[in-house]
Amino acid sequence: MSSSLQCIDCAQQYPLNRVIYACERCGGLLDVAHDFAASTGKITRELFDERLGALDFPYNSGVWRFKELVYPDIEDAHIVSRGEGNTNLYELPRLAASVGVDSFMLKHEGENPTGSFKDRGMTSGLSHAKGLGMTRVACASTGNTSASMASYAALAGMQGIIFLQNTAIALGKLAQGIAYGGTCLQINADFDRNMALVRQVAERLGIYVLNSINPFRLEGQKSILFEALQQMRWQAPDWVIVPGGNLGNSSAFGKALLEMHTVGLIDRLPRLAIVQAEGANPLYRHYASGFRGFQPVKADTIATAIKIGDPVNLQKAIRALEWTGGVVEQVSDQQIMDAKALIDGAGIGCEPASACSLAGARKLVERGIIKRGDTVLGILTGHVLKDPAATIGYHADELPGITAQRRNPMLRAEDDLEQIVALLA
Ligand code: F0G
Repeated sequence: MSSSLQCIDCAQQYPLNRVIYACERCGGLLDVAHDFAASTGKITRELFDERLGALDFPYNSGVWRFKELVYPDIEDAHIVSRGEGNTNLYELPRLAASVGVDSFMLKHEGENPTGSFKDRGMTSGLSHAKGLGMTRVACASTGNTSASMASYAALAGMQGIIFLQNTAIALGKLAQGIAYGGTCLQINADFDRNMALVRQVAERLGIYVLNSINPFRLEGQKSILFEALQQMRWQAPDWVIVPGGNLGNSSAFGKALLEMHTVGLIDRLPRLAIVQAEGANPLYRHYASGFRGFQPVKADTIATAIKIGDPVNLQKAIRALEWTGGVVEQVSDQQIMDAKALIDGAGIGCEPASACSLAGARKLVERGIIKRGDTVLGILTGHVLKDPAATIGYHADELPGITAQRRNPMLRAEDDLEQIVALLA
């Protein structure tokens, strides 16, 4: 089966081994385009179901289980994998009641090896880098991409170079980048500026960029939905809800759904709902204006993972909305943190950005866009341990501008039996 790089605007094609991140003719974003016509009847539910529970490389991975849909022609020797994916899908009746629907499921991508969905894109992107013979890879990151890249680069024996912004990196993510041996460069600029810088530096020094502008990243991230749909016995939900920052995941989801439909794994397309933080809402504004005259924003939100004002995958995300009859919603930091407390308190746990899925679902139900009888699949993108400062700050009710509605306050006592018993009686 043949695959190629293809411009999403002018359809110009390039061979897979060209190191480019945009169309040389028109500047458009690139897809990894697969020729599924050649494999009619071979990409089936049964093929993927037979591989479930595989113990051996590469099919033990929840990404490479779907190799035919991710990177059909890759050599196994190039695959750098930590057995990523295979994350849980939780059916949560209590959270469904709070959202206002009969069926609410959360797929927890924080259960990946480095604690976020990025591992699914990193195994595909970094394996491609290995096939190209790269020795140095780089990314700008709000923290999760860098944690994941540092881990996979270490595994592959490559140097991982991380462009971190000046403020607002969650502690868990920063610690991971350093711990995994990444070359961590803290730059006095925000994420959007770092994104531009990493591309320029990479070009000058011949370093391979592993941000989601790299289409091979998105191919791995498609497997979030391949796996979710497999867990749902290939019955599509009415809605898929995902937080939006650089819009890589949203873009990957559009492509995943279309491809699953094309090869016949699902018989209808769910609608995509992309949820942004109010303080980092460029896609929401663009959507609300009827997609006229895109304006980047200066981003600010407690959900630092999605503190992004000029998303690189904008055009692919718009395409995903068009393909799926999708919608865009925005939620406040207050709504994000209260939703996070609800998810955490249910025993599931997530980082702030992930809680957009629940907060957004609730808002879309209130607005009558999601109906009570709809089945809703939300994606949790990162682990509860990623941002301990936000969690502890919330429960201490010390977060500026936020009044914790679901506090679990710390009890304190002296070394005094009677006092402790009185507290717990
Ligand atoms: N949720 C989490 C936990 C993230 O880390 C990110 C992105 C997103 C949601 C948004 O995903 O960018 O595909 O729309 N984090 C990137 C990073 C930007 O550098 O780790 P997106």
